[in-house]
Amino acid sequence: MTDVPSIEPESQQRWTAVDHYITDLLLPEDPALDAALRASAAAGLPTIAVTPNQGKLLELLARVQGARTILELGTLGGYSTIWLARALPPGGRLVTLEAKPRFAEVARVNIVRAGFGDVVEIRVGPALQTLPELAAEGAGPFDLIFIDADKGNYPGYFSWALKLSRPGTVIIGDNVVRDGAILDPGAKDPLTGDTDLIRGVRRFYELLSAEPRVSATAIQTVGDKGYDGFVLAIVGDED
Ligand code: SAH
Ligand code: DHB
Ligand code: MG
Repeated sequence: MTDVPSIEPESQQRWTAVDHYITDLLLPEDPALDAALRASAAAGLPTIAVTPNQGKLLELLARVQGARTILELGTLGGYSTIWLARALPPGGRLVTLEAKPRFAEVARVNIVRAGFGDVVEIRVGPALQTLPELAAEGAGPFDLIFIDADKGNYPGYFSWALKLSRPGTVIIGDNVVRDGAILDPGAKDPLTGDTDLIRGVRRFYELLSAEPRVSATAIQTVGDKGYDGFVLAIVGDED
């Protein structure tokens, strides 16, 4: 990667140790979430779910927001889904979109086991297909939207998120730093080797910057999952 120094293994070890310190103190053993991670690993899903302390941040943000309806893009095994569903009040609803039927099936079992079978709806298919279907059905507006599917499509996901929003909707976008690779327009993603990914994430920042309806920030994070970051945005009025 041009001009961006690589990360020392010692740094990663320290971030992981600190994540364990935080998790041991603030996040007690959690049978439903632990089972979801075990089942996802046993089914061979990639180990790219949010970390426990990030998952809890999602839950807390949804609680602060008072979210009653949540939309998630990128279910994987349902780990972040369960965290977000925990924030919902009685009668709350969560729709989560996943391209891979096999991942969605693992997620379904995990979500039912966690007690959210009646709260969460999983829509299987590429999100750029399921989003227009949702919109056509009159779904939304959602109170909180978590964008965490394929990063190359974040620009399209952001525009659908806006369509499915109301003033006050919170939009969160995961994986917007990627070891700092976003500094380099031609960079390959350090984890996947994918160039579309970095292009997509950079375009996402540009759309956020140009969109008068949103107020946004991004925060860099380090931890067990390395060096990355997330966008936090709130939808306002047209002007
Ligand atoms: N939110 C999850 C992690 C999601 S990983 C968690 O933190 O627990 C990204 C997910 O997006 C993967 O499951 C992948 O299959 C899914 N995905 C990739 N491309 C997609 C697409 N076009 N539409 C919907 N989901 C997609
Ligand atoms: C990947 C996807 C994620 O959502 C994430 O948090 C980390 C990695 C990936 O596709 O490599
Ligand atoms: Mg992610």
